[in-house]
Amino acid sequence: MRMTVFGTGYLGATHAACMAELGHEVLGVDVDEAKIERLRRGEVPFYEPGLPEILQRHVDSGRLKFTTDYAEAAEFADLHFIGVGTPQRKGEFAADTTYVEGVVARLSPLLTRDAVLVGKSTVPVGTAVRLQGIADWHVRGGVRAEIVWNPEFLREGFAVKDTLTPDRIVIGLPGGADEQSPARELVEEAYAPILASDPCPVIVTDLATSELVKVSANAFLATKISFINAVSEVCEAAGADVTVLADAIGMDPRIGRRFLGAGLGFGGGCLPKDIRAFMARAGELGADEAMTFLREVDSINMRRRERMVDLTVEACGGTLIGKTVAVLGAAFKPNSDDVRDSPALNVAGMLSLKGAQTVVFDPQGLDNARALFPTLGYADSALAACEGADVVLVATEWAEFVELDPAAVAEVARGRFLLDGRNCMPGDAWREAGWTYRALGRGIPVRPASHTAANSGRLVTS
Ligand code: UGA
Repeated sequence: MRMTVFGTGYLGATHAACMAELGHEVLGVDVDEAKIERLRRGEVPFYEPGLPEILQRHVDSGRLKFTTDYAEAAEFADLHFIGVGTPQRKGEFAADTTYVEGVVARLSPLLTRDAVLVGKSTVPVGTAVRLQGIADWHVRGGVRAEIVWNPEFLREGFAVKDTLTPDRIVIGLPGGADEQSPARELVEEAYAPILASDPCPVIVTDLATSELVKVSANAFLATKISFINAVSEVCEAAGADVTVLADAIGMDPRIGRRFLGAGLGFGGGCLPKDIRAFMARAGELGADEAMTFLREVDSINMRRRERMVDLTVEACGGTLIGKTVAVLGAAFKPNSDDVRDSPALNVAGMLSLKGAQTVVFDPQGLDNARALFPTLGYADSALAACEGADVVLVATEWAEFVELDPAAVAEVARGRFLLDGRNCMPGDAWREAGWTYRALGRGIPVRPASHTAANSGRLVTS
């Protein structure tokens, strides 16, 4: 099959390369010339494990091409996926859908025959119907551009696997599950290779439900994380251990252990803005009370970042002035270079504003972090970041941080205080090596730290 994919970010570039992997002929489209140039050379403009290999393979095979030319795209295929961003509107909670609208408004008048436009971006419920109006207004006489919705559930870091072997495929059609149409056939045909090799449930529904499925999934995940982080606050106050608690409640299959990772909370380009957009849209629909709990989910999440800063201040003896803090991690999660609304970088920024000399290291996110927060200090390795540090913070759970040798870090750091913002570090090993180890949500007594000037203001826990 021939198809185009509009938008070549984390979602669009992955979708385009994976569709080529399934055997389709794909044209990726973006307005960013520089990005398209890189993709044409087979370079992925961001970090996503496994993606460079399939992108290069299909650029070489000729099955995957890229363009900035909408007319070429209109001519190339009758099936067009839309995977452009829907960021939070500046100064508002609502999602900014102008990029999705822009694609439909620019592409529709260039179509010379009937086509199906498949939205994959996360949008407020009701967007697809509105886009159909835009398409109808722009198309030439006699041409039909049908808008359908097919939300994407891929996670950064696992984007290739999630696209090629999804848990489920959701297809939203104007006529719902009963609709039998060329649009439905085209979308089902695109996914046929997945269903033939590794079948997963396909849920065909109406447009509104399909739009809501996506935001509800992300809102649920955010709620799960904030639930455990709220419990984490109580654990700190009561001297309990949230990680043991999460293991124990997670053994109940109705609850499940996944997404009960207590710590610095959620960030990234999706969960934070999606819960806000969901609240905003519910309000517009007159159902604002239904989603007000998400405000609390958001607040709990942001409080964890402040808690990490407070713990750092305590660890430094009450003030950050004159102190050096190593922040290990800048990406919003490991196996990603994405620093959008990253808790790690947010904490680093707050520490710097409070007067700490803050030095950040991340295995993949350094360039993006530097661009967003140019005033912070950056180092080229974890050990270099820890040089002269009074306190070491782990803010993103990269495997290389978990595997750090506490003795090697002790050789370069000034203090012996490790603050684990992701409950990922082997605390006992660090304690045995003479470090004071403290983690979010674990009010376990801290043994008196040995031989360290930095610990003069030792953190006293319950
Ligand atoms: C999320 C969803 O998981 C995807 O299903 C969805 O397709 C995507 O958003 C999207 O809307 O495009 P992603 O943003 O890649 O995917 O990241 P997640 O793996 O969901 O993690 C989000 C944040 O939650 C990260 O900052 C992570 O560190 C944090 N998290 C996750 C926790 O704090 N605790 C956990 O137990 C799990």
